[in-house]
Amino acid sequence: MPLIQEIDHGTPPRLSNTQVTLRIDGHDVTVPAGTSVMAAAMQLGTKIPKLCATDSLEPFGSCRLCLVEIEGRRGTPASCTTQAEAGMVVTTHTDRLAKLRKGVMELYISDHPLDCLTCSANGDCELQDMAGAVGLREVRYGYTGANHFADTKDESNPYFTFDPAKCIVCNRCVRACEEVQGTFALTITGRGFDSRVAPGPTDFLGSECVSCGACVQACPTATLIEKSVIALGQPEKSVVTTCAYCGVGCSFKAELQGDRVVRMVPYKQGGANAGHSCVKGRFAWGYATHRDRITRPMIRAAITDPWREVSWHEAIAHAAAEFKRLQASHGRDAVGAISSSRCTNEEVFLVQKLVRGALANNNIDTCARVCHAPTGYGLKTTFGTSAGTQDFKSVAHADIILLIGANPTDGHPVFASRMKRRLRQGAKLIVADPRRIDLVRTPHIAASHHLQLLPGTNVALVNALAHVVVTEGLVDEAFVRQRCDLADFESWARFIAGAENSPEATEHFTGVPAAELRAAARLYAAPGKNGAIYYGLGVTEHSQGSTMVMGMANLAMATGNIGRDGVGVNPLRGQNNVQGACDMGSFPHEFPGYRHVSDDATRDMFEATWGRPLDAEPGLRIPNMLDEALEGNFKGLYIQGEDIAQSDPNIQHVTAALRAMQCVVVQDLFLNETAQYAHVFLPGASFLEKDGTFTNAERRINRVRQVMEPLAGMSEWQVTAALATALGFPMHYNHPSEIMAEIARLTPSFAGVSYDKLDQLGSIQWPCNAAAPTGTPIMHVDRFVRGTGRFMITEFVPTEERTGPRFPLILTTGRILSQYNVGQQTRRTENLAWHAEDVLELHPFDAESRGIVTGDLVALASRSGEIALHAVVCERMQPGVVYTTFHHARTGANVITTDFSDWATNCPEYKVTAVQVRRTNAMSKWQTTHEAQAGALRRIAPAAE
Ligand code: SF4
Ligand code: SF4
Ligand code: SF4
Ligand code: FES
Repeated sequence: MPLIQEIDHGTPPRLSNTQVTLRIDGHDVTVPAGTSVMAAAMQLGTKIPKLCATDSLEPFGSCRLCLVEIEGRRGTPASCTTQAEAGMVVTTHTDRLAKLRKGVMELYISDHPLDCLTCSANGDCELQDMAGAVGLREVRYGYTGANHFADTKDESNPYFTFDPAKCIVCNRCVRACEEVQGTFALTITGRGFDSRVAPGPTDFLGSECVSCGACVQACPTATLIEKSVIALGQPEKSVVTTCAYCGVGCSFKAELQGDRVVRMVPYKQGGANAGHSCVKGRFAWGYATHRDRITRPMIRAAITDPWREVSWHEAIAHAAAEFKRLQASHGRDAVGAISSSRCTNEEVFLVQKLVRGALANNNIDTCARVCHAPTGYGLKTTFGTSAGTQDFKSVAHADIILLIGANPTDGHPVFASRMKRRLRQGAKLIVADPRRIDLVRTPHIAASHHLQLLPGTNVALVNALAHVVVTEGLVDEAFVRQRCDLADFESWARFIAGAENSPEATEHFTGVPAAELRAAARLYAAPGKNGAIYYGLGVTEHSQGSTMVMGMANLAMATGNIGRDGVGVNPLRGQNNVQGACDMGSFPHEFPGYRHVSDDATRDMFEATWGRPLDAEPGLRIPNMLDEALEGNFKGLYIQGEDIAQSDPNIQHVTAALRAMQCVVVQDLFLNETAQYAHVFLPGASFLEKDGTFTNAERRINRVRQVMEPLAGMSEWQVTAALATALGFPMHYNHPSEIMAEIARLTPSFAGVSYDKLDQLGSIQWPCNAAAPTGTPIMHVDRFVRGTGRFMITEFVPTEERTGPRFPLILTTGRILSQYNVGQQTRRTENLAWHAEDVLELHPFDAESRGIVTGDLVALASRSGEIALHAVVCERMQPGVVYTTFHHARTGANVITTDFSDWATNCPEYKVTAVQVRRTNAMSKWQTTHEAQAGALRRIAPAAE
């Protein structure tokens, strides 16, 4: 695995059906019209010297190094800004050009510190390379003139430095921030010699910069450089792998010295990210070697005992013996497991296989239960498959983007950059969100409509949008006739046309002015345009989460916005492998590939392969497991890579249930919140330590490749296989590729997937089978997976969680960019610089009436419990609605949330909790108790002499 040096073509590829042939240095080359002369030359393997050009950015033409001669043209045009034309005859290397280039380089070098040998970028510096390429040997102007050597370094960003003394003002960083990231944090101040790159009037940390790293990536010198490279030196080899944070699934080159990661560089060939990244994947990987990692298995008889380190053999034998004992004394159904959306497909597959084959029940569930389970239910019911319809690239063809209950700039930042690019090109945006999220107005983007609905009224909103479509003649009748079930459509159309679904009637619930909603509906449904729906947990985490997913599917079908580029219904999945965890049979009623456990033919196939009789009855969901534990019927739980004592609603209920169990087995990187209630701790492996695959929100299966040895000696899949074997259900695999081969044999949508094919193609979007051997970027193109599209009646039923005099405000929860989920990983990185604690956002009106100002400690109380946190008064919120995140365990945001959940899937209603807020001067009782007991429940006994 040598260091991968990706080819830089100098300017971005052009997609044109017209090809042009030109002659460069005596060789003919044919390229799509619009391609630069520089990129055409690169196609022939001819590198024209360049500094301000790179193929992730539009050409700028400022450095004058890439000059060429073109027959019939005067002067020496820049090859980066000159488009190839048919019949053009170009010469790239002549004495005249060499002299001009040398002159340009002399000017640059005369104002550049001559510390190449000790510079951190030595060997990875384009300025150095270009000095060599033009044969620069001396600088006629000397080094004594005016220069920038004394300019001050900006080291405020935790991950990279900015050393203006080395800047050549090529503008690549500024353009990367604008074109690639879409943040517009950088600017060039001054003119001529005084031109300088500046992150606004402040330093990087205090600026608009979101630390995505695009400018660092683009910088051709050591001006912007990773601190890890400064500390460790240049990497010597690379391994291509996949980010383990969000559902975008960005590909990275892990660049190493030995088995030590020096930096993570976004991979240009990555199908999901095409060379871009966000602060988490790019920089926040240090948790993998954090001192808090637990690398020895541990057991204890009671949770009040200190942990005792044991061998892998003893830990696994103990867990297996306990599960057998519990099943013998309390019945087969007294134990179960929870798989993780952070783990690989192969690991998740093995956990459900262990449950079905070794524990002989279907008590397997996954954290998708608390995020996107309604997506699975809703899209399967209407379209026939439990996944989003598009690839990310599709957004480049959208004319109208309807964004509902999602905040992509924080939750799915790399996709947000794609979306912002399309919006800057002129696509229209409709945001439906209780908060004024950044995308409502951000540099060069302004939403056409912000439907600022009250939390809990999504279904009323989507029904009103559909009402306008149906009653104003905006239905795509040809699409509906050809592609959908007509009887279902007609009964749905009658229902939706009812006066109760009109914008005027629903305004009463949603708070969205009827005229605004009508205008938004007309915009989304505009005939002949591509309308695309993107949504997040603001849709699913409601008592009507599944209804809302079906409501959006209805809307897309009625307007014909399904089955081609630029349209669709697209869930922005939360965790890295939540799609995969669902695909792999993590639900108690479904085998891998979403086939019901009661289906005899499917069960026969799994029984034949696994050699075990399998249960035809669905097992327990997570909430049922917890309830049964409190009833005394559920006694043992194997939890791989999830932290339900922080992530799940009503923590008091969760922890009481965990305390009621006799054997809780936690497999994780750290002694997380749930591990406080565990009896067996099995050390996990980070994404850098294992092989496998993740499936992202666009159904893209990406390879995860081992970068370093597992710190604890075993990957999760090996531990699960050992546990199954100890339970009497032998599992033997030499490599995760063998697990994938079994998945492919048993799962029709994965039938054509193999590690060899993944290595060859880079990634594959399922379904991948005989009909689609290289995968399926866009689904439901000619027909829906279920045959005809099915319209579902989506009656709005208000949540039972009601505000009143005691709890007059609505709390809604979400995420922020720099932290991830329960924060176990990101809290152990420098990302704390941006978000060191969870805070409560509230509107000035609600703050003022309570005497609250930003920075005050406030008590946040609901019917479930009370916590205290600091207030931030801001106009992002609407009056009556407050907001917080759940990234910090000590805050305990889920102490507040309730047991209400989606009617179809039990996905918790995190987004609607009636609360009261008041000033306080003390932490809450829960917080104080939690702080005191956390240390006690995490004690590790000193190792025996
Ligand atoms: S790190 Fe990203 S957001 Fe920050 S200045 Fe660079 S490109 Fe812009
Ligand atoms: S910081 Fe780097 S990319 Fe930006 S202008 Fe200076 S040299 Fe160019
Ligand atoms: S967008 Fe998501 S997958 Fe991509 S780098 Fe950021 S956290 Fe990782
Ligand atoms: S690379 Fe063409 S002008 Fe700089």
